[in-house]
Amino acid sequence: MSNENYEPVFDENELKTVQYHISKYPKPMAAVMPVLWMIQNKYGWISTDAMKYVGDLLGLPHDHVLGVATFYTMYFKRPMGKHHLQICTNVSCMLRGGYEIYDHVSGKLGIKNKEVTDDRMFSIEEVECLGSCGTAPMLQVSNREYYENLTIESVDKLLEDLRNK
Ligand code: FES
Repeated sequence: MSNENYEPVFDENELKTVQYHISKYPKPMAAVMPVLWMIQNKYGWISTDAMKYVGDLLGLPHDHVLGVATFYTMYFKRPMGKHHLQICTNVSCMLRGGYEIYDHVSGKLGIKNKEVTDDRMFSIEEVECLGSCGTAPMLQVSNREYYENLTIESVDKLLEDLRNK
């Protein structure tokens, strides 16, 4: 994780993984998403230098990598919190208290949409449907883990657990 700008560099094993991703597709261009994902996993976010690095690795114009990275919200273009809370407020979640969950978390952490806490532990984002409507309201942590059927109590417990992770 890096909260500052960084000089992106993959080690030997990571470069092998890049080659593996390239080998899966007819053209290297198709590997841009998994390679951007590798960058985000390593550094926590994707800097402009990192987009150029990925472009150089895959032999792609930098503008193409920039276009992919900026199109998909799962790629962070600036440092986010260690735990990025993506809270759904789309229809099913809204009807089952998604905004109450969002407002509670926002108030408790003292941050608004896409802001980061001073200790860089948390950031929050209001998101559209994450395909878990049957277990609404829900949130996702850092593009990975789902927490469902949320209540104010369960979300408080989640914040506490994440703080200690
Ligand atoms: S509306 Fe929230 S997961 Fe579908």
